[in-house]
Amino acid sequence: MPKTAIYPGSFDPVTNGHIDIITRGLKLFDHIIVCILNNPSKQALFSVEERMEMLRKSLNGVQKIEIATHDGLLVDYAVKRKAHAILRGMRAVSDFEYEFQMALMNRRLNRDIQTVFLMTGLRWIFTSSSIIKEAARFGGNINGMVPKVVQQKLNAKFAS
Ligand code: PNS
Repeated sequence: MPKTAIYPGSFDPVTNGHIDIITRGLKLFDHIIVCILNNPSKQALFSVEERMEMLRKSLNGVQKIEIATHDGLLVDYAVKRKAHAILRGMRAVSDFEYEFQMALMNRRLNRDIQTVFLMTGLRWIFTSSSIIKEAARFGGNINGMVPKVVQQKLNAKFAS
């Protein structure tokens, strides 16, 4: 049976760090569902439709992936899609507590779904959607940190 993972996140917007986790995740899983979910502690800059479009364009040509969105609990979506695992990237120690808490809560909600972590590539260890948005908002150069289509969208968003 093919092994499917859900790669969940806000993806507001997708970064090259996310793309790195997806491409490396494909070495472990047969199929990855990249799923935009709501993180209630974050205020999104882009609409879900805009985030989907950026993901679609950034991952154009990458096989064995699917882009989706779900309004509700991640574990419920994983069950619905018959996924074997939740895939998450882990950057520095600062990510650990939040990721640990989320993985244990998801495990408490559904013991059949495992969370698998990949260490973020060294090149992306300092980047996040939030810090990239902040740099872009004040006119900083974010070249090479996000796919070109995302760079254009950010520039357009902060142009006025
Ligand atoms: O990219 P993020 O913001 O770190 O991703 C967090 C996300 C969206 C994966 C998380 O907030 C989430 O799973 N939201 C859906 C609701 C849910 O199932 N929460 C976790 C258990 S309470």
